[in-house]
Amino acid sequence: MGKLDGKVAIVTGGGRGLGRAYARHLAGLGAKVAVSDLDLKSYAEFEAEAAAMTGDSTVDEIRNGGGEAMGFEFDVGDRDAMFAMAADVKKAWGRIDVLVANAGGGRGKPMETTATLVPLDLLELVTRMNFFGTVHSCSAVAPTMIEQKSGKIVTVASYAGSVAGAGGGYAHYGANKAAIAHYTRYLAQELGPHNINANCIAPGVIATARIVKLVGGGPGGNRGAEDIALKRYGTVEDCAKVIEFLTTDLSDYVTGALIPIDGGWNKAG
Ligand SMILES: NC(=O)c1ccc[n+]([C@@H]2O[C@H](COP(=O)([O-])OP(=O)(O)OC[C@H]3O[C@@H](n4cnc5c(N)ncnc54)[C@H](O)[C@@H]3O)[C@@H](O)[C@H]2O)c1
Repeated sequence: MGKLDGKVAIVTGGGRGLGRAYARHLAGLGAKVAVSDLDLKSYAEFEAEAAAMTGDSTVDEIRNGGGEAMGFEFDVGDRDAMFAMAADVKKAWGRIDVLVANAGGGRGKPMETTATLVPLDLLELVTRMNFFGTVHSCSAVAPTMIEQKSGKIVTVASYAGSVAGAGGGYAHYGANKAAIAHYTRYLAQELGPHNINANCIAPGVIATARIVKLVGGGPGGNRGAEDIALKRYGTVEDCAKVIEFLTTDLSDYVTGALIPIDGGWNKAG
């Protein structure tokens, strides 16, 4: 028996990286998983991601492993498309128990995205994919979870949402992630009376292929990890295990929390 047998999960941004790991982990616990992404083959952008794939997409990988999965391609910033996905999932599988609102990320170079210099088009894009995408995702699943009187929602912030990087670059990303963390506290207050938990994770440096390319190091190297108490970058499994906690009965009395997954990164660093 899997901890999530009979349950239905939605993972946004599940084409690669952390979202792919969450989708596969939830499927491994027995959940039927609906995976969304702008491009379900986004792994193709990074050689290491592509090399790790055991199927044509995360959906195929789950099916190949004997699980049930569906794929959807759209921008989470498109509210109608997000609501349509939730409706399709409910129609196909009858319920929605878990949402991991993972889609997001930053755009632009750090020195071009400081608090006062960030170009408006990048501010709008990053806000659409992170904050608006999260609001649309949570709003789309809430009516079904309220009807069921149960549900587990996990939103995704970042270390950058709590600590401003030296020099002030990537302000648009950090401010969006801070907004997601605080939005989740409001979400928990609204949905708590319906027996729905809403929590937010704040990953530190997690060695996805994208991050390894960006900062160097990686699980073997860990260049720059000296300010991290555990002296290594995180892995996608480190995060997936926290997702397991937040989407199963282990976390029934946890809501409105912001949970860092950063190996004890020195906040003064
Ligand atoms: N990797 C890290 O170290 C780290 C640290 C802190 C926070 N995060 C957050 O975790 C999440 C996943 O990060 P990752 O490292 O796996 O990123 P990634 O870029 O490797 O993967 C993100 C996936 O989301 C998809 N996506 C992006 N915008 C989308 C949109 N508007 N609609 C639908 N899909 C969209 C992309 O196509 C991609 O497949 C992001 O929200 C990111 O900000 C990651």
